[in-house]
Amino acid sequence: MKIAITGSTGQLGQLVIEQLLKSVPANQLIAIARNPAKACKLAARGINVRQANYDDPVALHNALEGVERLLLIASNELGRRITQHANVINSAKKQGIRLLAYTSLLHADTSPLSLAVEYARTESDLKASGIPFVILRNGWYTENHMAGVPAAAATGMLYGCAGNGRIASAPRIDLAEAAAKVLASGGPAGQTLELAGDTAHTLAELAAEIARQCGRDVVYKNLPEPEYREILMAAGFPEPIASGFANWDTEASRGALFDDGHQLSKWIGRPTTPLSEIVRQTLAQAR
Ligand SMILES: NC(=O)c1ccc[n+]([C@@H]2O[C@H](COP(=O)([O-])OP(=O)(O)OC[C@H]3O[C@@H](n4cnc5c(N)ncnc54)[C@H](OP(=O)(O)O)[C@@H]3O)[C@@H](O)[C@H]2O)c1
Repeated sequence: MKIAITGSTGQLGQLVIEQLLKSVPANQLIAIARNPAKACKLAARGINVRQANYDDPVALHNALEGVERLLLIASNELGRRITQHANVINSAKKQGIRLLAYTSLLHADTSPLSLAVEYARTESDLKASGIPFVILRNGWYTENHMAGVPAAAATGMLYGCAGNGRIASAPRIDLAEAAAKVLASGGPAGQTLELAGDTAHTLAELAAEIARQCGRDVVYKNLPEPEYREILMAAGFPEPIASGFANWDTEASRGALFDDGHQLSKWIGRPTTPLSEIVRQTLAQAR
């Protein structure tokens, strides 16, 4: 059984591989990387590293030779992903892959997030390919809102524009465990899993958690979207990223990041990691 993972040098990909190594021998794993130099630690552990860029159909075809199960981790190159993902799906089809799991977006078919269009299109392409699939509709990473936590602990102010929107986030580790379980078990083929955290929080509740752990007051200040974007840019985020996060916060205020289906905890067989634990880790790393 050969299992391949694209995006293997990314944050989620590395965690998926760590999870897989608990039940799958290293020599059955293939780490696909656009830059194999980044995968040298994986190679040192006996994992087969193959080079392929999502833009390169020939390299993808070669990288997928002999692969039975594939995890397509969505590209982070926004605006180019429909073609990039189609390249992977077409190569997987030609190589006769028996299961393709794809990391999509929570409620990709109905989500108002600007990101959703590309995710939904890849889901359609995957279904149309005829390859047995599992769609992993990953919820918001809890880590996404951690960038402001050290500053909030230091200044007593947390900024955002998500209003009272409830965010059912889960950390990458929980989503990686879910993906690894799909790859190791080969199922549930034909299903779309909405993978979100068990507990949803508002940004005011995040501020309260920071306050609890730091033993000081932390206030959440809800800003108009343009003001929050300026704060993110002043903190060093490039304009497109700052615009994205500010806009996604606005959509969160309307419920775009909420889910209460508990499919993630059911699939991994344990409660999802609480917000408090990720705040604890973030504050510990910042010290
Ligand atoms: N649910 C959420 O909240 C959320 C948040 C952020 C992102 N995402 C999505 O989830 C994906 C995985 O998350 P992550 O945290 O692991 O992101 P990440 O750390 O940015 O990893 C993205 C991976 O995609 C690879 N990649 C990008 N362009 C490529 C190309 N043209 N050809 C081949 N590989 C390419 C990167 O390769 P290198 O290692 O060489 O850079 C990296 O390994 C992201 O790519 C994004 O689509 C979801």
